[in-house]
Amino acid sequence: MVHHHRYHQLRKPTEYIIKDEESQNHVVMDCSSSVYCKRTQPKLLSFLFLIIFLSCCYVFAPFFLGPSFSLSLLYSYGPENDSNQDVVDVKASACSSVSSGTICCDRSGYRSDICVMKGDIRTHASSSSIFLYNSISHNNSVSRTIEEDQVLQHEKIKPYTRKWETSVMDTIDELNLVAKKVNSGNVQGCDVQHDVPAVFFSNGGYTGNVYHEFNDGIIPLYITSQRFNKKVVFVILEYHSWWITKYGDILSHLSEFPPINFSEDNRTHCFSKAIVGLKIHDELAVDSSLMEGNKSIVDFRNLLDKAYSPRIKGLIKDEEREAQEKLRQQRQISLSPSSEPESKTSQGSQQIAQTKPKLVIVSRSGSRAITNENLLVKMAEEIGFKVKVLKPKKTTELAKIYRVLNESDVMIGVHGAAMTHFMFMKPRSVFIQVVPLGTNWAADTYYGEPARKLGLKYIGYEIHPKESSLYRKYDKNDPILKDPDSITKKGWEYTKKIYLDSQNVKLDLRRFRKRLHRAYEYTILRSKLNLQHQQQ
Ligand SMILES: *[C@@H]1O[C@H](CO)[C@@H](O)[C@H](O)[C@H]1NC(C)=O
Ligand SMILES: *[C@@H]1O[C@H](CO)[C@@H](O)[C@H](O)[C@H]1NC(C)=O
Ligand SMILES: *[C@@H]1O[C@H](CO)[C@@H](O)[C@H](O)[C@H]1NC(C)=O
Ligand SMILES: *[C@@H]1O[C@H](CO)[C@@H](O)[C@H](O)[C@H]1NC(C)=O
Ligand SMILES: *[C@@H]1O[C@H](CO)[C@@H](O)[C@H](O)[C@H]1NC(C)=O
Ligand SMILES: *[C@@H]1O[C@H](CO)[C@@H](O)[C@H](O)[C@H]1NC(C)=O
Repeated sequence: MVHHHRYHQLRKPTEYIIKDEESQNHVVMDCSSSVYCKRTQPKLLSFLFLIIFLSCCYVFAPFFLGPSFSLSLLYSYGPENDSNQDVVDVKASACSSVSSGTICCDRSGYRSDICVMKGDIRTHASSSSIFLYNSISHNNSVSRTIEEDQVLQHEKIKPYTRKWETSVMDTIDELNLVAKKVNSGNVQGCDVQHDVPAVFFSNGGYTGNVYHEFNDGIIPLYITSQRFNKKVVFVILEYHSWWITKYGDILSHLSEFPPINFSEDNRTHCFSKAIVGLKIHDELAVDSSLMEGNKSIVDFRNLLDKAYSPRIKGLIKDEEREAQEKLRQQRQISLSPSSEPESKTSQGSQQIAQTKPKLVIVSRSGSRAITNENLLVKMAEEIGFKVKVLKPKKTTELAKIYRVLNESDVMIGVHGAAMTHFMFMKPRSVFIQVVPLGTNWAADTYYGEPARKLGLKYIGYEIHPKESSLYRKYDKNDPILKDPDSITKKGWEYTKKIYLDSQNVKLDLRRFRKRLHRAYEYTILRSKLNLQHQQQ
């Protein structure tokens, strides 16, 4: 697949670039989490957080941020402007009112740039351009003296949401947005005229990793486009048909039109409004204070539910049909009346199983596996759970994963990209993340905190050195075991090599049992409360 090549290209020049992971550049990401803090704190504190954010970015900017990152812009959107905007309209972004014939680019975002165009917009794929024409009428004699094809404005943008990571941004195709004054006779004709706005974005970069697909792509796409109520066309740079297939259920709930493969499609597409680039708020999050209609991450999850529902109903029907077929075959074979009571008892035990809380272990193989997973399964069953072990592969249909998690009460998994599936859990269910040595910060930032925002009960289980496979590899006093922070501070390549790629977990079941018990009791209590609620 195309994206695999991309990874290899990426990994050579800069060794800290990730293949599998989200936990790169910790220092820079620290900045972004304080951006979030700024937003969630009461207004009086926001100034303080802004100062922390600015100083943090200022200190590390020379190491991580490219030339396009402009500190002056950051300062110009300082606290005075911020608080003014709060009073007037929290949701008003810099380009919320663009006049026709102009391009407005908001480059103040830490994670992405976004440009808005309005007027006579026409795509020109072969020059990676989107033109905005301000035409001069034929019959105006004055206009003939004006130089034809005069460029009024030229903006360049890479429509990808990891602006601060120059190494990955270097691989993203750049678009030219050009506003031109032209004689209307010179304008290229429209091959396809669209009555709805366009949203342009890139599916390059880290696409291929499920965390990045949701965090950098699908959620920002939701944030940017849900307000159009499906009346929007997606124009995709680095279009992959596997991605369209994988996310088709979701895409069809965001847009009712087929997406356009920008670089392949040399027809001229015409629009009257275009948004280039995606808005992004935080790790796997939707900040409702920045959304029209106060939409939140729960609304995003509701959209997932709606999106996967038809497919899941289909799967259930297929299974029922198969089960009936089996039953019929069994009857034909046995032809004895004894088969009837048998099927009754199995129905009875099924009902008991249904009342048991359901627990899913999202299992990894290779690194960061739970080596005593079968004992964990046994213990969970003893406690009273109905247990399922899920081994999602890259090719596993998301609807199938959604189905399992949506009907579960507890999800357990070791820190890694597959934890992104916590979003498939219903709010108020339990998510236990097993946190290997050296991954505390990343585990909480990328999954723990977002899970809390979704309304899950989150338990981070930070393993003790003895539960790590590294315990047998290094001396007890080695900083790798005693002080992982000192190692991860040395850089991404250390984190990756030592803690991510070569660590397994053997759970201390006695210690883990306490967490499982808590999760069990919480689930039972919750379902009792739910019942009471229903009876009232
Ligand atoms: C407020 O923001 C505008 C850009 O929207 C900028 O031109 C101006 O200088 C800012 N004012 C202050 C006081 O920061
Ligand atoms: C010709 O110019 C006049 C004003 O100068 C304008 O009202 C009219 O719409 C123009 N006609 C065309 C065909 O552009
Ligand atoms: C989309 O366009 C690219 C060219 O940029 C091409 O390589 C790819 O095959 C196209 N994909 C599909 C599904 O048409
Ligand atoms: C698009 O390009 C292909 C070859 O790259 C060509 O065969 C086709 O005619 C072009 N279509 C248009 C509408 O220009
Ligand atoms: C917006 O949503 C939040 C919770 O996400 C809620 O507390 C608040 O009341 C809502 N505001 C409006 C205006 O609906
Ligand atoms: C997810 O679970 C809820 C509650 O059990 C149910 O109402 C909903 O239909 C499920 N969603 C799908 C897509 O099956």
